[in-house]
Amino acid sequence: MGKDYKIAVVGGDGTGPEVVAEAVKVLDKVSEKAGFKLNYTHYDIGGDQYLASGDVLPETSVKGLEKSDAVLLGAIGHPDVKPGILEKGILLNLRFRFDQYINLRPVKLYEGVYTPIKDKGPEDIDFVVVRENTEGLYAGAGGTLKKGTSDEVAIQESINTKKGVERCIRYAFEYCRKRDKAKKLTLCGKTNVLTFAFDLWERTFYEVAEEYPDIETDYAHVDAICMWMVKNPEWFDVIVTDNMFGDIITDLGAMIQGGMGIAAGANINPEGVSMFEPIGGSAPKYTGKGVINPLAAIMSGQLMLETLGENEAGKSIEDAVMKVLTNDVKDVAAGKMGCSTSEVGDLVLGYI
Ligand code: IPM
Ligand code: MN
Repeated sequence: MGKDYKIAVVGGDGTGPEVVAEAVKVLDKVSEKAGFKLNYTHYDIGGDQYLASGDVLPETSVKGLEKSDAVLLGAIGHPDVKPGILEKGILLNLRFRFDQYINLRPVKLYEGVYTPIKDKGPEDIDFVVVRENTEGLYAGAGGTLKKGTSDEVAIQESINTKKGVERCIRYAFEYCRKRDKAKKLTLCGKTNVLTFAFDLWERTFYEVAEEYPDIETDYAHVDAICMWMVKNPEWFDVIVTDNMFGDIITDLGAMIQGGMGIAAGANINPEGVSMFEPIGGSAPKYTGKGVINPLAAIMSGQLMLETLGENEAGKSIEDAVMKVLTNDVKDVAAGKMGCSTSEVGDLVLGYI
């Protein structure tokens, strides 16, 4: 008998529920085949809920998510809600509340997917970014003085704790070892300018590296990483970095792997509740049109299974997605797939 898992599903805003429905469809089939059970509870969290209740993240929902084994999230973002409210109130709040200190973002170009980088193919673009997910510029430290006057001062501080930096770096080394590919971990920082924060990162990186003699270490400044992700993406195996740099370089990563239609991410607390989401947003103007690619959400489901320890079932999702990409879907971009959101889900199902 396989295990039973409690999965909290948060469709969220815009096209979020549509893509999550496809992920659930695929997860149901792989779990049935593999002999474990996923029990879903749906939570009403997002812009509409906020506009109706005035409460951006109801405590009852948080309590529910807390009791689950994993959270599957669609997208957050509503055209009638001022930017920042839902992002901070829901997405970042959940990452912080559940101490999901790792944001794991694979950048993998699959066969049959277009990359804007000329002369690079799937053998060149296959790396993973480990982004710190609870500290840095996202911690919310700082403030404003004399707001609205010509003397206004705005301060936004980057918080880096030894504990936070070390656990992220250690996770990255472990991940790199487990991945067992080039066994190379690159620290992405800015030691030439951010001499307090990245001094801590750099020292901790080389301290922890002592425990991993089998892993090659490398360092690059974030601006150079951007350059090399385009020019020589084959140099990278695993990259570890802080919250802000990780946010930025993973959007670049999503583009070189074919776009938001395929980019999946995981917010991980290795000892707690993790949350899985496609990197793309809620795309309000496409809501209900069935044009959004669900592969990113489906691949988030794959990351969820991997994190739950159901590796084989996770692999069967990736294998099926790879077949769809080589045989069926014309383009991963929204509206250009040659079929609808649910048809893409069906195609994946067909290969499982
Ligand atoms: C992401 C997003 C979020 C972030 C936003 C929506 C707060 O861009 O998941 O990368 O900056 O982390
Ligand atoms: Mn981002």
